[in-house]
Amino acid sequence: MSGQIPAVFDRPVLGIETSCDETAAAVVEGIQLRSNVVASQADLHHRYGGVVPELAARRHIERLVAVVDEALEAASLDVADLGAVAVTCGPGLVGALSVGVAFAKSLSLASGKPLVGVNHLEGHIYANVLVHGPFPTPALALVVSGAHTDLLWIPDYGQYRVLGRTRDDAAGEAFDKAARALGLGYPGGPEIDRLSRRGDPARVPMPEPLASEGGYDFSFSGLKTAVLRALQQTPSPDPADVAAAFQRAVVSHLVRRTVRAAEDLQPACLLLGGGVAANRLLRESLGREAQRLGIPLWLPPPWLCTDNAAMIACVGAFRLARGERAGLDLRAWADLPWDGLPPR
Ligand code: KG4
Ligand code: ZN
Repeated sequence: MSGQIPAVFDRPVLGIETSCDETAAAVVEGIQLRSNVVASQADLHHRYGGVVPELAARRHIERLVAVVDEALEAASLDVADLGAVAVTCGPGLVGALSVGVAFAKSLSLASGKPLVGVNHLEGHIYANVLVHGPFPTPALALVVSGAHTDLLWIPDYGQYRVLGRTRDDAAGEAFDKAARALGLGYPGGPEIDRLSRRGDPARVPMPEPLASEGGYDFSFSGLKTAVLRALQQTPSPDPADVAAAFQRAVVSHLVRRTVRAAEDLQPACLLLGGGVAANRLLRESLGREAQRLGIPLWLPPPWLCTDNAAMIACVGAFRLARGERAGLDLRAWADLPWDGLPPR
């Protein structure tokens, strides 16, 4: 292990997450999860086949206070018992993020508790810490969410170097678009995961993205097009076969690039995070490859892969211990650099 395991803030941290379509609050003490409440808006966005930003922000306004109350109650704490408040300030939908940021600032102002801003994607990596403890460094992390697909080198805590990222759609976005083409609901990833179980991936041809290119970038738009093309054929293929072929192609693309980086850089561990990390085939395939390479693979349980506030409170606890504090001028960012927090 190259770096020291850093200190963690030792008082309860309330985490708040509203970057997309989950209204979430959680309490973490050290790296122990004390409560975790997620109010999903999937029912609200289902009929539109994707998240409607304006509706997401309004629903956060309606639900956030009750969700925070529930998280505090489940942890048997009052606001006065908290050590700090951590809030997602990006990347994400700015209107949705702003609800959480404004609430967290008001709570910090009224209670006198310190505030810290958290990068949502860093949260996805730290979901692992809540179940497995602090990770050894240097680490290689694959973050696969609805809007991001990033392969990262983590030489030490809080340091990130982007090795590769998607050139078009994110992996989760590709799952959602392919699901829509197949007439499945939103979010599409779990639906394709389920439908694939009874499909034969060998029955539908899929291209291998960026096959002739080295490096660690990703591309998924060609796979989405291949799904549309397959569905236009007569006789029309079994949707389960299309889903299985698409899922297998996405997963082998993700795994191939990650294995390449792992072989090149020899990390002390491999970290997976983000909603797509809940995918059964991805977990199995990466698990097999990590075992072959002799590198420990850390996976969050599926309920910590998708958006939640526990992972946000956990990042907050590390940042607070490093002395980071946000001012009441904290705002929301649609994009944020990996290596840190909001530019001031
Ligand atoms: O991380 P996340 O909850 O939200 C963002 O930060 O974007 O990721 C949501 C994405 C969605 O695109 C959803 O379809 C995908 O994660 N997802 C899955 C699975 N569960 C969620 N994709 C593939 N297989 C799954 N089991
Ligand atoms: Zn996310």
